[in-house]
Amino acid sequence: MNFFSISLIFSFFLSPVFAQDKNIILDPVIHERLNYYNIKPLTAPIQDPNRAKIFLGKKLFNDPILSGNKRMSCSTCHSPGLGTSDNLPMSQSENQKEILRRNAPALFNLGLQKKPFMFWDGRVHFDLNEKVFTTPEIGLNGKIPKASFITKYLSSALSAQALFPLVSHNEMMGEKGENEIADAKNNLEAWEKIINRLKNNDQYKKLFQSAYPEIALRNINIGLVAEAIGSFEKEEFQSLGSPFQRYLRGDKAAMTNSAKRGLVVFLGSGKCINCHQGSELGNTSLFASVAVPQWGAMPASQDYGRAEVTHDSAENFFFKVPSLLNIRLTAPYMHNGAFQTLKEVVNHYDWLSHSLKNFEVSSQRRHSMPVEVELLNSPLVLDEIWLSSQISKNPKISNKILLTPLEKNYLLIFLSEALTDPKWINKKE
Ligand code: HEC
Ligand code: HEC
Repeated sequence: MNFFSISLIFSFFLSPVFAQDKNIILDPVIHERLNYYNIKPLTAPIQDPNRAKIFLGKKLFNDPILSGNKRMSCSTCHSPGLGTSDNLPMSQSENQKEILRRNAPALFNLGLQKKPFMFWDGRVHFDLNEKVFTTPEIGLNGKIPKASFITKYLSSALSAQALFPLVSHNEMMGEKGENEIADAKNNLEAWEKIINRLKNNDQYKKLFQSAYPEIALRNINIGLVAEAIGSFEKEEFQSLGSPFQRYLRGDKAAMTNSAKRGLVVFLGSGKCINCHQGSELGNTSLFASVAVPQWGAMPASQDYGRAEVTHDSAENFFFKVPSLLNIRLTAPYMHNGAFQTLKEVVNHYDWLSHSLKNFEVSSQRRHSMPVEVELLNSPLVLDEIWLSSQISKNPKISNKILLTPLEKNYLLIFLSEALTDPKWINKKE
């Protein structure tokens, strides 16, 4: 890159942010950058013709019958009224007395663009070419899985994901001794018992028959339950109407000028685009460490994220790069809800090492949790987290971007205003 092109980029990226009245040049600059980063508007997928399957999926998603003690449903932690999440830093456990170690992610557009990895650490994976699953349940994995009677019905990582909250003791199953599902000796047996519950229920018998008329009731298995839930999630949690999406589709008036300046920061001096890529400003095949402080229920232990799946210590503290759609509606933020507001997130990125070292949990926050929480901030731990964000395997992230107050403001306006789909605001606010 020669001096001329560098100075050109500088003038492109700095001047529009500061020059309040030169609005006119924002659109061409943004247009050029969006092209460069190949950011295209999202397109709606074709509607699933099997309406009975979607209806079944909706019922299952909202029904505590799937949980061992019949008190949790998927929607307990993924509530449409709470941005398809639960507003908590870390979700509450099935018995309401503990917390899980991670934040419940939003479910927007998970069924679009064939996303191959599910969970913060990507432990559910579907290889789209080979049609092979890799999951925490060995029976589902590989080219010829032992439980192929289940995988043959699963069309995506999203559908496969739905199998796992069902067999997690503190999410949905409950503890041993409490119910027949929790007493099962392995996942396959627990799934079988859940299916038996449903087959003994007259309403579900009918719903299965209408959703899967070609399959005899005795052959219905958990794969079809997961596929129905996945199909419902794909259709229900779509978000295509944010000002940013409308802008990408060509409506130049969809975003305010302040939001446009924020987008320029996002793509330019903020370097957010290094990881938050594509139409959804996320990359569900990319894992990275952004030096997020670690905390959790006492006694807290480190959450190594992706490395816990790959056993590659060069991926310690790597988490999936989340999409930023409707981000205003899904606080708190990060895999463990460490940050409560978008402002805190932006300040974190502004100077990573400083934010990591000085992170504190307010007493108000501590008191709002059902358990004692602990911050892992010994110098050793902080070093380890910090290093993970700076090693060569990590996508590029600067320690300091040091945005001006004005740039920060614009970035916040872009994140909170332009990425929020009115369809989902009405469900929440
Ligand atoms: C007790 C709260 C709770 C319940 C109940 C629950 N979830 Fe979740 N969900 C979470 C948490 C926490 C995570 C993140 C866990 C992780 O990444 O390790 C998650 C992750 C997910 C993801 C992955 C999203 C992504 O971007 O990777 C999907 C999809 C999902 N849940 C769907 C469901 C479905 C379907 C059900 C019901 C069968 C369900 N959840 C039940 C809390 C819950
Ligand atoms: C090196 C890659 C990388 C860069 C650069 C990056 N991010 Fe992130 N971002 C991530 C990852 C990975 C996470 C999840 C981290 C975690 O939970 O530990 C994340 C999480 C977030 C979240 C919280 C999302 C949620 O659902 O909780 C927001 C908001 C965010 N980033 C905004 C930004 C902004 C704004 C910038 C630019 C100033 C930026 N990011 C730069 C990788 C990156």
